[in-house]
Amino acid sequence: MTDAEALKRQAAARALEYVEDGMRLGLGTGSTAKHFVDLLAEKVKAGFKVVGVPTSERTRAQALELGVPLATLDDLPELDLCVDGADEVGPGLALIKGGGGALLREKLVASAAREMVVIADASKHVDVLGAFPLPIEVVDFGLAALRPRLQRAIESAGCSGPLDLRRDASGAPYRTDQGNVILDARLGRIPDPERLGAALDGVVGVVEHGLFLGLARRVVLAGSDGIRVVAALP
Ligand code: A5P
Repeated sequence: MTDAEALKRQAAARALEYVEDGMRLGLGTGSTAKHFVDLLAEKVKAGFKVVGVPTSERTRAQALELGVPLATLDDLPELDLCVDGADEVGPGLALIKGGGGALLREKLVASAAREMVVIADASKHVDVLGAFPLPIEVVDFGLAALRPRLQRAIESAGCSGPLDLRRDASGAPYRTDQGNVILDARLGRIPDPERLGAALDGVVGVVEHGLFLGLARRVVLAGSDGIRVVAALP
């Protein structure tokens, strides 16, 4: 395991301490969340009783294979805890998510949970969000008409930068689990995430964006100097 993977696993292991027997859990997506599902499965094998709602088909397949009991948000509209990774963690525990393309289901599942705990290696902690391209999930109907409206919304929030249509390994437009496409906004800096989030929410054709604001209650950051848990202000 590389050093970075070891740190992700440490963060995942620490988050497992928040999981109680009988909990309904949101299961995140990505390489860090994958460690969490691995470790959770070990506890389940040892007799721990939880039910997980996965945030992607990838996580569903992993959890199924490892024997973690699963449900959907229709079965369990309210969850106790959601544990997920992030691409960036900024001031006030504002997040950029969706690097792995699962932002829509991730936001739905996190919003259904009483608490969201984010797990990450310490390199994800930043002073200003935006170096990581912001994923924006959009419908593929009329993309050429959507782009300028999206650019105007982004500019109204004091940001600018190109919008790259995400592609898969074959070069075709990447499709999310919901069948939509993703525009990655290379903004560099997002000085006011709330303002940008509100502007993007107002664009017809935007299904969801990767700014997760006011959702994370705690962030577990694993660095070479140990683990730090940052809690949101009450
Ligand atoms: C998935 O769409 C993302 O939101 C991930 O949670 C995020 O990209 C973090 O992934 P890693 O844990 O692989 O860095």
